[in-house]
Amino acid sequence: MRGAPVRTIALTNQKGGVGKTTTAVNLAASLAYFGRRVLLVDCDAQSNATLSFGINSAKLDGTVYDLFTGEARAEEVIVRYSERIHVIPSTPDLAGGEAEKSPAASRGQALKQALSGLTGYDFVLVDCPPTLGLINVNVLVFVEEIIIPMQCQFFALQGISLLLKTIDLVQKRVNPRLKITGVLPCMFDGRTTLSKEVLEEIKRHFGGKVYRTRVRSNVRLAEAPSFGKPAIEYAPDCNGAQDYLSLAREVLGLPEDAKEPASAMPKQETA
Ligand SMILES: Nc1ncnc2c1ncn2[C@@H]1O[C@H](COP(=O)(O)OP(=O)(O)O)[C@@H](O)[C@H]1O
Ligand SMILES: [Mg+2]
Repeated sequence: MRGAPVRTIALTNQKGGVGKTTTAVNLAASLAYFGRRVLLVDCDAQSNATLSFGINSAKLDGTVYDLFTGEARAEEVIVRYSERIHVIPSTPDLAGGEAEKSPAASRGQALKQALSGLTGYDFVLVDCPPTLGLINVNVLVFVEEIIIPMQCQFFALQGISLLLKTIDLVQKRVNPRLKITGVLPCMFDGRTTLSKEVLEEIKRHFGGKVYRTRVRSNVRLAEAPSFGKPAIEYAPDCNGAQDYLSLAREVLGLPEDAKEPASAMPKQETA
């Protein structure tokens, strides 16, 4: 893995509450479990990814906001959650509209400028806000890959054409390498006809891009953030933790039964 180019992946969907943040946090933890070094960039003003790693925003030297305004370098705002999981946190001030006003951000180039030179990571994951504004455009200009988490509920595909149009525009105009790597069915409940029907609809729309992994509805995934840990540390055996390990295997191209020794568990460094 060392020496391989860093993979940059946005977790995005124009809807809120579909599993973007849960996927960003738990995919980061699962990739780290498989030995990869991960930087998670929280680009949502709601700071849910930041909080999910138990990061106290009152004690921060800087946040992703400072990357948008150009007031800090990435290295200055990185928080080390564990040896292999680092986080660039966000705070609610990202919502104020000021972050997008810097010359770089208004051209969509702020994150790319701030993060392109970073070394030492195998993956940079970016958690996105549920809007298709300038923050999201800055993310799409920076990353090469997109994973779209989708809630297996009615209206899952509503508004998706706007997201696809935005991706297409950024791809054509500024970032030709941008592509949708996969679509992830989230909050899947195999007992309900609705979940299965929505999954079929998602497959009709996205074909082979839909991951084999379905992230099942699992209360542990919803509880873990309040303990400031990803599910794999909070409740390693729960369905949610196992489903995100399965996603990580797909993302890494590992066989379905690939396991790492327990020593692969990331060690926590911050309280
Ligand atoms: N597979 C799941 N099972 C149960 N609850 C989930 C699952 N995925 C996400 N949640 C919960 O659903 C809510 C929305 O998920 P979240 O990841 O924050 O969505 P988004 O970032 O797209 O707004 C959160 O409370 C989260 O804990
Ligand atoms: Mg979120």
